Amino acid sequence: MRLIAILPGDGIGPEVMAHARRVLEHYVSVRKLPLELWELDLGAERYLKDGTTFPKEIAKRIENEASAVLLGALGDPRVPGLEYARDILFGLRFGLDLYANVRPVKALADRLVPLKDRSAKDIDFVVFRENTEGIYVNIGGQFKRGTPDEIAINEDVNSRKGVERLIRAGFEYAKAHGKKTVHMADKSNAMKHAHELWYRCFFEVAKEYPGIDAKHVYVDALCLYLVQDPRPFEVVVTNNLFGDIVTDLGAGLQGGLGMAASANVHYADPKRVAMFEPVHGSAPPLVGKDLANPLASFLTVGMMLGHLGWREEEQRLESLCAKAIETGHCTPDVGGKLGTKAVADWFLAELAG
Ligand code: IPM
Ligand code: MG
Repeated sequence: MRLIAILPGDGIGPEVMAHARRVLEHYVSVRKLPLELWELDLGAERYLKDGTTFPKEIAKRIENEASAVLLGALGDPRVPGLEYARDILFGLRFGLDLYANVRPVKALADRLVPLKDRSAKDIDFVVFRENTEGIYVNIGGQFKRGTPDEIAINEDVNSRKGVERLIRAGFEYAKAHGKKTVHMADKSNAMKHAHELWYRCFFEVAKEYPGIDAKHVYVDALCLYLVQDPRPFEVVVTNNLFGDIVTDLGAGLQGGLGMAASANVHYADPKRVAMFEPVHGSAPPLVGKDLANPLASFLTVGMMLGHLGWREEEQRLESLCAKAIETGHCTPDVGGKLGTKAVADWFLAELAG
């Protein structure tokens, strides 16, 4: 049995996760996949009720017993500071040492591509975003807050170990998937210390992969190239913050946040528990309106099943998402007229058929 922890979370999270769960239940009852689903009541609602964020016992059980975590979305306007959300999200990413945030940028249909003269086949790359350090470590502070002299500092932490293992994950992925090029995006022309480390480490690791072309690109230029012509990109490795930004740009290239999936993994040891989440957030304006696009969460379930060894199922879910777009069984954000539930019902019927 593989234990799957499901955290529907906040906003549209529970709306899309309810259907992602139906997909998993289909695989359990019809395909007999040995999955045990364990739904967790964590998020804004729970926090507002009793102050719970991410209890240690739950973190331990996930670490020791679960094979994967499926997260909906976190964020609620009633809790502006979002400390509970950071506890949960970073409790998972940092706490489980899931150092590679793997975010595929793949357009599933031509009409989703916003670029002139480009089609779906031109948009197919994967971003490996460092996921356990960088500017996300929350080291820093505020001084003289609220005065004209106030100072705010967030430290950017880059360890050799952290940088190297992420870069290596990118090359390993490229090698395993027959990719010819790995790009590393940094800002070493301005961030002389931290990104000199990235630059040096990248070319050192690249020597171990002679068949793969290692290319450096400044992150600002990367944004320009991705919009002008994304075709040369196959694998992009970068730090936590740049990866966050570049993958939203990437989501734009593949049809919006409703189409973007991600995996958070300890790449060197795939047996360790991993976490899967659609890239979209809790989207407060869409909540309760049956407008949320469930396809990102289906693609995310696909990544999870693929990671657990069920590659055919991953392939099937991706093909069905492409079919949903092609046949117009989709939500308005991707040009359809259906609501969340109708898309999911169609999807489940196809899956069963
Ligand atoms: C993401 C999100 C998060 C991040 C936020 C919610 C903290 O933007 O997963 O891309 O910055 O990592
Ligand atoms: Mg983001």
